[in-house]
Amino acid sequence: MNKFIILIISGLIYVLVAEQIAAANSVQIIPQPNEIIIGEGSFTLSKNTRIMFLGQKEAGKIAKILAELLNKSTENGFKVYKFTDAKSTILFQLEKKLTINPGAYTVNIKKRKIIISSSTSQGLFYGFQTLRQLLPATVEGKGSMALGCEIPCVTIKDAPRYGYRGLHLDVSRHFFDKYFIMKYIDMMAMYKYNKFHWHLTDDQGWRVEIKKYPLLTKVGAFRVESNGNSTGGFYTQDEIKEVVAYARERFVDIIPEIEMPGHSVAVLAAYPDLSCSGGPFTVPTNWGIFYDVFCAGNDSVYHFMKDVLAEIIPLFPYKYIHIGGDECKKTRWKRCVKCQQKIRQEGLKDEQELQSYFIHSIEEYLQSKGKEIIGWDEILEGGISSTATIMSWRGTKGGIAAAQKGNWVIMTPGSHCYFNYYQGNPLEEPQGVGNGRFLPLQKVYTFDPTPKELAPEYAKFILGGQANVWSEHIDSNDLVEYMVFPRALAMIECLWTQPQHKNYQLFEQKIHAHYIRMNQYGISFSRSADKESTKKKIMESK
Ligand code: ACM
Ligand code: ZN
Repeated sequence: MNKFIILIISGLIYVLVAEQIAAANSVQIIPQPNEIIIGEGSFTLSKNTRIMFLGQKEAGKIAKILAELLNKSTENGFKVYKFTDAKSTILFQLEKKLTINPGAYTVNIKKRKIIISSSTSQGLFYGFQTLRQLLPATVEGKGSMALGCEIPCVTIKDAPRYGYRGLHLDVSRHFFDKYFIMKYIDMMAMYKYNKFHWHLTDDQGWRVEIKKYPLLTKVGAFRVESNGNSTGGFYTQDEIKEVVAYARERFVDIIPEIEMPGHSVAVLAAYPDLSCSGGPFTVPTNWGIFYDVFCAGNDSVYHFMKDVLAEIIPLFPYKYIHIGGDECKKTRWKRCVKCQQKIRQEGLKDEQELQSYFIHSIEEYLQSKGKEIIGWDEILEGGISSTATIMSWRGTKGGIAAAQKGNWVIMTPGSHCYFNYYQGNPLEEPQGVGNGRFLPLQKVYTFDPTPKELAPEYAKFILGGQANVWSEHIDSNDLVEYMVFPRALAMIECLWTQPQHKNYQLFEQKIHAHYIRMNQYGISFSRSADKESTKKKIMESK
């Protein structure tokens, strides 16, 4: 071969490799998909690109979500069509095949055609979210994306590792209105979270309208701060329905939490007869664990709880209701005539068993209405039924014990999942946040919902994991976003991506592209992870 031909071939190889590297660099998807094959060339999005669907009309609904996003960002008039052959097409295809994993999808990008396929609408929705991240970051803005942009040719075959990928928000300690909740759900859906745990009640505020007990919101939804100002708020039942429908369109199930028997002072302020002592109480303005809880010996409490749940059940179509169960002090029960009488009457050993009795009666009621309970891991104390799902927050011990009994488990240990903990040097973080503990981005990334010590035969009981956002020290929408992002991006790779495809170095590179994306979208994320002082603190904490 003469030198000239060798030179041309080497040049061509160089261009091809450079193109592939450029394509690989533009594929910065979070959560990392489980299979990516980089192709050659790119698809050009033009005003003639046709967005189409094949299969049932549900596929058309997902196609419409893409059209709406593109119309907002390009101010073009993309419409959705039933499939016919067209030169430049983005096709959403609902396949008639059985899959075990409802989130599975394929995105196949060729020079003239993009095909997103799945056997479920949910899978198509995730395929859309993946395609969205292959578009320029300006797709998240309004009127800021130019047509003619290139989308790299790739084939992505993807499916989530866990079916439960949760984010929680405490709206009791501080109230966040329905508009913010909808934004929260949008942000979750963008990163393929699918469960929103709505912590609706706690000592410092009751946040949901219950028609039979109007004082719950009239009294229990507001507290008078030391400066004399009343703060608080609540959601009407209509607002709850609106949020639930909104979440459903984004494949997010909502789990409402109604705390019992502890964390209930806001209720007792409204209805003091439900306590052991009879009160009076005010809605507290300080944080902590309170001695006054529901009286577990008083039959009216059980009637009250069931009445409340009877109004909650029709608002939330998902199968789970979270009944709390955490941090319930037994001090009042020990001295309460009614509680002690209940212990004797039901042949219970002690106050731990009284708590179990309480939870069991509520569970029985919920089961009779077709619902299942989730409870914090304290509900294991004193015994649980075989159908309760455990949220393991005091480490993973509770979750491991529950899985070994054959109960379903959601892992949310404080060590890796509490996004109210500070993420940088506390002296440089917003004042007051942090709850005194350090949880940097890097540590979140090491979370594995299935503990190594759990024998493989029990691993199937781990439904997934969840990050929690307790809002004692988080009093604004921006601050919620700051605490959640980018840590939620690290968390979702722990919940979606198979461990062999996780890579923190790659994640760190990708996250910079997502800073730009989140900025366009309007998320007030934190940059603490990039600071030298954070890196120093991580070294010190090792
Ligand atoms: C909790 O953090 N008390 C569940
Ligand atoms: Zn009592």
